[in-house]
Amino acid sequence: MGKDVIIACDFSSGEETLKFLDRFGDIRPFVKIGMELFYSEGPDIIRTLKGRGHKIFLDLKLHDIPNTVKKAMKAIGSLSVDICNVHAAGTGKMMKAALEGLTEAHTTRPLLIAVTQLTSTDQETMEKELLIREPMKKVVSSYALNAKASGLDGVVCSPLEAAEVHALCGDDFLTVTPGIRFADGDRGDQKRVMTPADAKASGSDYIVVGRPITASDDPVEAYERCVREFIG
Ligand code: C5P
Repeated sequence: MGKDVIIACDFSSGEETLKFLDRFGDIRPFVKIGMELFYSEGPDIIRTLKGRGHKIFLDLKLHDIPNTVKKAMKAIGSLSVDICNVHAAGTGKMMKAALEGLTEAHTTRPLLIAVTQLTSTDQETMEKELLIREPMKKVVSSYALNAKASGLDGVVCSPLEAAEVHALCGDDFLTVTPGIRFADGDRGDQKRVMTPADAKASGSDYIVVGRPITASDDPVEAYERCVREFIG
């Protein structure tokens, strides 16, 4: 898979999601489905979107004991999504088990990526609540290296970290980056943001874009602007 723009479909119902995607006509964007929609609609929403021809990043961020994650990943593998993920904090053993579960599903294996540190966790919270006292940059790099050593295909990270992750883990190791805003757009609650053009320059492989597209008056034009700026 090459570079692409993934739309974060953070809607509360399948109906709302399909109504939004209907606006794109024959264009079938790569979409990210998260916990809210998956837990409320179940696997049917994945089958429906697949049937419509969308590529899907199923963002469920698994984190449990290796055996449980392995079995859950086997179930996820049977849904034929294109990308799925786990928390790198679950350890190398858990990430390897996740990969085994996906392979057992006997479908084309989805790409498996790891969340390093959530962008909602800052240095202070990490130190005080998680008792991780290393600098954030070092933690993200170390988690990315552990994901690579466990056989994963890439990480979710800030576009600000994409170049560093590629330098450490190689150009083929995917960086999937949320926190994207247009230069003239509203930042919302995202603190560390980049434009699609800057994310391209940073070497990001996939940008995940939510509100700049979903909250736009013209989502199709906003999506096409992302594609123009990110892919060219
Ligand atoms: O609306 P916005 O463009 O901020 O949406 C970004 C999407 O990426 C949301 O679905 C959010 O949950 C997700 N995400 C993020 N930061 C992370 C991981 C995921 O913003 N570190």
